[in-house]
Amino acid sequence: YRIAVFASGTGSNFQALVDAQRRGALHGGEITLLVSDKPMAPVVQRARDAGIDVFLFQPKDYSSREDYEQEILTELERREVDLIVLAGYMRLLTSVLVEPYSGRMINIHPSLLPAFVGKDAVGQALQYGVKTTGVTVHYVDGGMDTGPVIAQRALDILPEDDQESLTKRIHSVEQQLYPEVVSWFAQGQVRLNGRHVSLKRT
Ligand code: GRF
Repeated sequence: YRIAVFASGTGSNFQALVDAQRRGALHGGEITLLVSDKPMAPVVQRARDAGIDVFLFQPKDYSSREDYEQEILTELERREVDLIVLAGYMRLLTSVLVEPYSGRMINIHPSLLPAFVGKDAVGQALQYGVKTTGVTVHYVDGGMDTGPVIAQRALDILPEDDQESLTKRIHSVEQQLYPEVVSWFAQGQVRLNGRHVSLKRT
């Protein structure tokens, strides 16, 4: 079961997925490619260290999002990628990728969606004063942090929490949850709304 991870940042989720694969926790899931628009991002070095191929692109070299997505799609099809896992990929996707990978593309977001979409979800939650926040894994449908929810984990915000302490706890929940959800896909079954759904391979 072939997985491509799209990421542009630190790559702590990417690393958690790589580590899970090494322990056999992805149940046959194999990370075959990292797709990134940030050549200097730490996640790129993590992929190189792990011996995972990297597909780098510079959006400014293309006349439209559709153009570079078409090139990414060709690469994914050539490698027979089954599942796209977004992990800190900071760009919206068009139908060029969303349609062929419908039901086979997921994202992780550091809040209980639909609350606090977009950037700095942790800061937004602190600012709002909510007492519970969490992590969501959802299908990607082309909107900003929209698409059916696959899994969520809640965590309490403590009175003494600040951006740094809360971000740290959220990240550790993400790093546990994301490999788990990816392993459901690799096993051909995903829980949606608490029910098992078998995954169609197209
Ligand atoms: C994570 O918080 C994820 O929820 C969000 O982007 C962040 C990526 O962090 N979509 P990292 O690069 O995996 O460390």
